[in-house]
Amino acid sequence: MDSGDAAGDRAGDGESGGTARRLAELAGRRAALAAQSSPERTARQHARGKLTARERIDLLLDPGSFVELDELARHRCTSFGMEGQRPYGDGVVTGYGTVDGRRVCLYAQDFTVLGGSLGEVFGEKILKVMDLALRTGCPVISINDSGGARIQEGVVALAYYAELVRRHVSASGVIPQISLMVGPCAGGAVYSPAITDLVVMVEDISHMFVTGPDVLRAVTGEAVDRDALGGPQLHNATSGAAHYLAPDEKDAFDYVRAVLGHLPSNNMSEAPVYPLPPGRSRDEVTEADRALDTLIPDRRNQPYDMARVVNAVVDDGEIVEVHPLFAPNIVCGFARVEGHSVGVVANQPMHGAGALDIDASEKAARFIRLCDAFDLPVLTFVDVPGFLTSLEQERDGIIRRGAKLLYAYCEATVPMVTVITRKAYGGGYGVMGSKHLGVDVNLAWPTAEIAVMGAEGAVGVIHRREIERAEDPAAERERLKAAYEEELCTPYGAAERGYVDAVIMPHETRARVASALDALRTKRVERLPRKHGNIPL
Ligand code: HXC
Repeated sequence: MDSGDAAGDRAGDGESGGTARRLAELAGRRAALAAQSSPERTARQHARGKLTARERIDLLLDPGSFVELDELARHRCTSFGMEGQRPYGDGVVTGYGTVDGRRVCLYAQDFTVLGGSLGEVFGEKILKVMDLALRTGCPVISINDSGGARIQEGVVALAYYAELVRRHVSASGVIPQISLMVGPCAGGAVYSPAITDLVVMVEDISHMFVTGPDVLRAVTGEAVDRDALGGPQLHNATSGAAHYLAPDEKDAFDYVRAVLGHLPSNNMSEAPVYPLPPGRSRDEVTEADRALDTLIPDRRNQPYDMARVVNAVVDDGEIVEVHPLFAPNIVCGFARVEGHSVGVVANQPMHGAGALDIDASEKAARFIRLCDAFDLPVLTFVDVPGFLTSLEQERDGIIRRGAKLLYAYCEATVPMVTVITRKAYGGGYGVMGSKHLGVDVNLAWPTAEIAVMGAEGAVGVIHRREIERAEDPAAERERLKAAYEEELCTPYGAAERGYVDAVIMPHETRARVASALDALRTKRVERLPRKHGNIPL
């Protein structure tokens, strides 16, 4: 590994400072760097089911666009025999390149070198490339595959993790930050990806835990399987720490490229705009538009797939979902309307009737804040029976945690458009992008039911005595329910007051949404100065 200097001497002509000797020295150091990626190390990495850092960079970036930084950096540690192994690059590859022609900065931890563990120089390299990303306003992508803090370097390694987290926080909302988890990530190291905008995990090879299985067993005596403790399924479907589960590394990098295509490079620039898909016109009503007219079932409690509404409205029916396995009762994702990126938030009646629970509230709140930070309009589709009522949800903090969703909508200053397709009951009406939270354009289908609660509950509260006194209580209940539905479960009470701007035919949705987003393109909101708000965390 230290052969760089020796190679320089060999090639020298004996005169110190000779140009040929100096050029040869660089060539020698580069050769030593290249030799580090030996076939044996690569084979060991492949045997673990993982790609190497450089193979990963090739999957992410446009071919030939990568420019490496600090490839000759080496650690300065002299304890625990470390002076004998001073690999070039110090176990992390950093640099910049392009994704679909747009600049990104990245760092890729190289597990084949000292287990990708983070020491002083490793840390310095990452901070440097992050500072570059922040100064130049481009996204930063981290490729994580590491044993964590380099044990031999002690507190210095810990200090650099904290410094790294500080950079993530400075960059938050200024440049997009995406973390790919393609190996282990243990201990406090998990808080680096956790603070970034999106975390992508890969089946079989990704693990994130604050306490690994060995430490857990040593401390508590509890034996827990590595996947159960911090595997990709757990973090995607249950903990919510990860936003996308890729079946393999290629798919993970494809996902990151797709997400980047929807985001601006920084909070002062615009997301890429694409031409209208061929054959698409705002005025022409398509078959997919017409199909919306018959989508809502006659039976009020029968589910239907909200994805069909979203697909009909967005370009090419394409949505890049965020958190698809977590809280499936709400759908969040990036899409385009007439070539412009938007963030879609939609209740999904197919899961839990689309009711809002803690996970759905937190998922949507974080997504709305991501869109707001990067100036993507928020397009909301509503069919919500309200907040989920259960003792468990109350105990787990649906008040504190559900409040995040209200806060996120109220705080957002981007253009916002809401379409109510069916139920908008109680708190659900208020929370899901209602006019009262600051949403700009609110549309409702004739099938919208905007009321304090559904007929069953309402009649039980306001007509309890009449029903008890009736000769046929069941028939009386049904009669009163029908009267309530006729009078109150419609969009017209809201339309009369301007709480919805229009009641539209379902087949008009795409055109109305596109025209609203067009009209809102120049939206500007000024806020009173303050240090920051205090979102209920
Ligand atoms: C130095 C390390 C290392 C570390 C791994 N290696 N972790 N070297 N510091 N933290 C080295 C190993 O010695 C080995 O070197 C090589 O990397 C590959 O490791 P293996 O154990 O052979 O690989 P594998 O079986 O795949 O297991 C990977 C692993 C395990 C699960 C990550 O290595 C492990 O448990 N490491 C420790 C994880 C940890 O607790 N880290 C500290 C987290 S705390 P050779 O030479 O044999 O190839 C933290 C603080 C953050 O990060 C603070 C934030 C504020």
